[in-house]
Amino acid sequence: MAFYVTTPIYYVNAAPHLGHAYTTIGADILARHMRQRGEQVFFLTGTDEHGEPVAQAAEREGVTPTELADRNAARFQDLMPRINASIDYFIRTSDPRHAQRVQDVMQRIFDNGHVYKGMYEGWYCPRCADFKTDAEIGPGNTCPIHLIPLDREREENWFFRLSSFQDQLEALYDGRSDFVLPRVRFNEARAFITGGLQDVSLSRAKLSWGVPVPWDPQHVFYVWFDALLNYFTALSFARDGEDLTQAFWPADFHVMGKDILKFHAVFWPAMLLAADLPLPRHLFIHGFLLMKDAAGDEHKMSKSLGNVLDPFEVMDTFGTDALRYYCFREVSFGLDGSVSTTTFAERYASELANEYGNLASRTLNMIGRYCGGVVPDVAVDPELRPDFEGIATEVAELLDRAEITQALDRIWQRVRRLNRYVEERAPWKLAKDPAQAATLETTLHSLAEGLRVLTVLLSPYLPESTAKLLDALGDESGDRLALDGAVFGAGAGGAAIGELAPLFPKSA
Ligand code: MSP
Repeated sequence: MAFYVTTPIYYVNAAPHLGHAYTTIGADILARHMRQRGEQVFFLTGTDEHGEPVAQAAEREGVTPTELADRNAARFQDLMPRINASIDYFIRTSDPRHAQRVQDVMQRIFDNGHVYKGMYEGWYCPRCADFKTDAEIGPGNTCPIHLIPLDREREENWFFRLSSFQDQLEALYDGRSDFVLPRVRFNEARAFITGGLQDVSLSRAKLSWGVPVPWDPQHVFYVWFDALLNYFTALSFARDGEDLTQAFWPADFHVMGKDILKFHAVFWPAMLLAADLPLPRHLFIHGFLLMKDAAGDEHKMSKSLGNVLDPFEVMDTFGTDALRYYCFREVSFGLDGSVSTTTFAERYASELANEYGNLASRTLNMIGRYCGGVVPDVAVDPELRPDFEGIATEVAELLDRAEITQALDRIWQRVRRLNRYVEERAPWKLAKDPAQAATLETTLHSLAEGLRVLTVLLSPYLPESTAKLLDALGDESGDRLALDGAVFGAGAGGAAIGELAPLFPKSA
């Protein structure tokens, strides 16, 4: 089966920060997990390069939009291997192949009668590149997200008849309770639709940095129409000489933050309906990573607020896996939550270094010391079986709904269970009593086996350290990451273990 997952395409008006890494890692965890299930996965990310935010940032910096886009797109591209995002393609909306496909789809929407010319007047945020509805305007006509004054704009535009999709969108939400996840975001999107839809402007006449409107080349498309279509257009040119649209459209998951819910949960399905294209299966809307400012108040991390935690610094010191783990452990995926260097250091030391890293090194050391470096080839301890029963299915069911934090929590409960098991069995005591030799072998095989199962399940979260640990456990089977194999007792004993440097060194 095919599984297609996307991130938002990021604006190139700024360099990447932890917020961008966060969404991308979330999508990557889903992509890696689905590969473990034998799915054909396509994982897309990229950059949103047109529109006012980019044109204005370029002007401020005294460069052309193309120069700015090239410079910052490269930084986003470099971010991907750095965070171990196993992307299949990186789309840039300045790619002429994208523009061509945008024009094709938009022409179809025009031909289907969903576009007309009208006059637009309203409050506009140049950073959001969005006209604000009355409910979205902050005190004194400001943008509640960027805290900057809104511009009063009036221009002749092409309009998209969003209002005519009211009934179809209501039917979509009535019929598919999992179209938007989690539930609270579904309700928000549903309320937006029931509140009544207004037509939206589809083109800008004043701007030249964009995709020209094919039926009126004096205009370029409003950047959101161009941007949303990336999810669809990329499939047609991501592979040279191949069109992946048939294989992967519609997308299974669009993952994003709650700031762009309206565009994805309302505009996007309406655009696809207008173009007679199938709708994505799910949108997963996560919350914001927040950081406390000097006064102790929490803010969404963003470049413009200047309170950014640099993911590169964190990764340089503690490794990529530590960042990946922390983000999804500390903040429940779907909710807002604070991140800080303090809680990072705590979780690193107590969970990654002690609970997991130490479990791994103890297990390997004891197999080295008491069993000649070979995992005992005996049956696993029946006492541990109930704790591991059905764990792979449990994790898979949660990740089917992108419940990344909950799935990690279920895995971590078992990491803790294995740590208790070590204390209960105290293999170092068993080793002193020759009459306990069989129990010792059972214990150490069970530990190695439990660790193997958990490591397979953790591999989407911690791709680097889990690969090292599976190497050290002597698991050389070709598809050692297959989810089918994450069954306690399925792994045979008898493997010779290898060396393992501390997975999460305390001195980091
Ligand atoms: N270009 C648009 C998206 C177009 S998608 C068709 C855009 N770009 S953005 O660069 O502003 O990225 C916004 C996204 O970055 C959020 O939806 C979220 O995925 C991620 N995040 C940015 N800051 C974040 C936090 N502080 N916390 C969590 N996610 C954050 O909007």
